[in-house]
Amino acid sequence: MSGRISKEFIDELLVRVDIVDLIDSHVPLKKTGANYVARCPFHVEKSPSFSVNRNKQFFHCFGCGASGNAISFLMDFSHLDFVEAVEDLAAFAGISVRREQAAYVADASKKEDLNSLYQVLEQVAAFYVEQLRVTPKAIEYLKSRQVKGAIARDFLLGYAPDKWSCLSERFDQKLLIEAGLLVVKDDGQVYDRFRSRVVFPIRDKRSRIVGFGGRVLDDSLPKYLNSPETPVFHKGKEVYGLYELLAKNSKPQRILIVEGYMDVIALAQYGIHYAVAALGTATSQAHLDLLFRFSSELVFCFDGDRAGREAAWRVMESAFSSLKEGRSCRIMILPPQHDPDSLVREEGVDGFVNRMRSAQALSDYFFDYVASGLNLSEVEGRSQLISKAKPYLERLPEGTYREMMFSRLQDLSGMASLNSADNKLAPPQVSSYQSRQQEFNRLSSARVAIALLLQHPALAENVEQKDIDWTGLEFRGIELFKSVLGVILDKQSVNTAVLIEHYRDTPEEKLVTALALLDAYTPEDKIEKVFSDALDSLLKQARIASITRLEAKARCHGLDAQEQAALVNMLAIK
Ligand code: UTP
Ligand code: MN
Repeated sequence: MSGRISKEFIDELLVRVDIVDLIDSHVPLKKTGANYVARCPFHVEKSPSFSVNRNKQFFHCFGCGASGNAISFLMDFSHLDFVEAVEDLAAFAGISVRREQAAYVADASKKEDLNSLYQVLEQVAAFYVEQLRVTPKAIEYLKSRQVKGAIARDFLLGYAPDKWSCLSERFDQKLLIEAGLLVVKDDGQVYDRFRSRVVFPIRDKRSRIVGFGGRVLDDSLPKYLNSPETPVFHKGKEVYGLYELLAKNSKPQRILIVEGYMDVIALAQYGIHYAVAALGTATSQAHLDLLFRFSSELVFCFDGDRAGREAAWRVMESAFSSLKEGRSCRIMILPPQHDPDSLVREEGVDGFVNRMRSAQALSDYFFDYVASGLNLSEVEGRSQLISKAKPYLERLPEGTYREMMFSRLQDLSGMASLNSADNKLAPPQVSSYQSRQQEFNRLSSARVAIALLLQHPALAENVEQKDIDWTGLEFRGIELFKSVLGVILDKQSVNTAVLIEHYRDTPEEKLVTALALLDAYTPEDKIEKVFSDALDSLLKQARIASITRLEAKARCHGLDAQEQAALVNMLAIK
């Protein structure tokens, strides 16, 4: 049983392990100059663009944009979650994972609870499988849908009998309720949720049963029932069929996302073992991030009707934040009146696969969709196009893919310069040419200063020597700079990998990673000078911004004593 892994332990691990050794043990590396290179393990390529930097303890692929520290490498390479990756990394370093004592007790008992939930779900699934074997009408139903025995076994299909208390007679009632298998009425009475249905156990990627879907054998309603959310089942995070898919192939070339349980099963029966279904919910970003861990190509299947098109659009809303170079999403619109189950039966595997191969790239689908109904030969149409498309493109992570999407929007709208990677740090409105110019200068010094500090944390000392008065200085560049500085000063030993780790799963993560990768083109002996100059200019711009802000406020509302002092102070420095 385990407690939370301590943050200090993770920092220490990232300082002790050498990422070059770690990656070299999975992907043989070659030394070139300051870096070690290999062909990227995260996308297919002929010449090596995957590079590992020993000083930064960081890897980066110039081809697909994958990047991160030793923990991220293991998460991506071995498909591990965060804790698993830390455990593996500690094993690699030959040290044992240190966990927080305080959290130990609570966490351990929580884990035990979950284990008993997994257990009861497993037992119930076995019970349902057994019931299917002895229920001819359920077997008949599956036969009528041409489900073969082998597939029924692979997917652990079962049958929930037509009784109200099959489960509560056999298993612990409290656990059944927590596992979502019983319905509790207002008066406290309970009954089995799934009755007289074929059941589809839903497994997570580690093969644990987390919930069920159940289908009636006739036309009664509701056609499908699903387990509710429980401590072990989160619909936004699980997909049906992923475990079965990975059991066949842990690195599928593509994953097909369909709507229904029966679609996944019919496709598997036809040898298409790489389909999964979102569980009666819209595909979430967590789904996409999960699936992109296993394959770089996702194909979404949608009905050809209006509901299908709307569903396709909803996917777009979550997909944009996950899209970057090296990843692809495609949209496959099915002919009317078909779902994948009926289509593969009618057209066979070849017909189906051909349609899938010619599915439209998400970028094409996106621009067709936003441009539909607009007259792009008129300014009005083109400006509408920009306002429709831009909010989506702005969600794309920084990188080549983002830039290419922006340049396509530029081409379509005839409008130059819609995106600058810099505008990430910029405040929202930019009024005149002059202020835009200033903006740019300020951003570049902020970028340079933060990037160098991330890449050479020892520069923090340099900042200490300057004895800076930070009061009243506020804007995003400065805030992030202060935050990084704070992290460095707070830690005993630190390198770029530790800093990146600190920002994992925070809003700053992407920006920090991008800046850690930024090539400052600065020779080693000039780093301090370049940093110091960038910092001076950053501070100066920050002061000007703050002075302008305070002066404006003084005119409208007046300043309190503290603000007045800050203003006087800053004017004195200037
Ligand atoms: P469909 O109604 O398209 O059913 O629902 P289907 O998968 O083609 O089912 P068959 O072929 O008639 O057996 C697609 C998916 O939507 C969810 C289920 O996940 C289903 O697989 N659904 C549908 C529900 O959750 N509840 C319902 O009542 C219907
Ligand atoms: Mn169907």
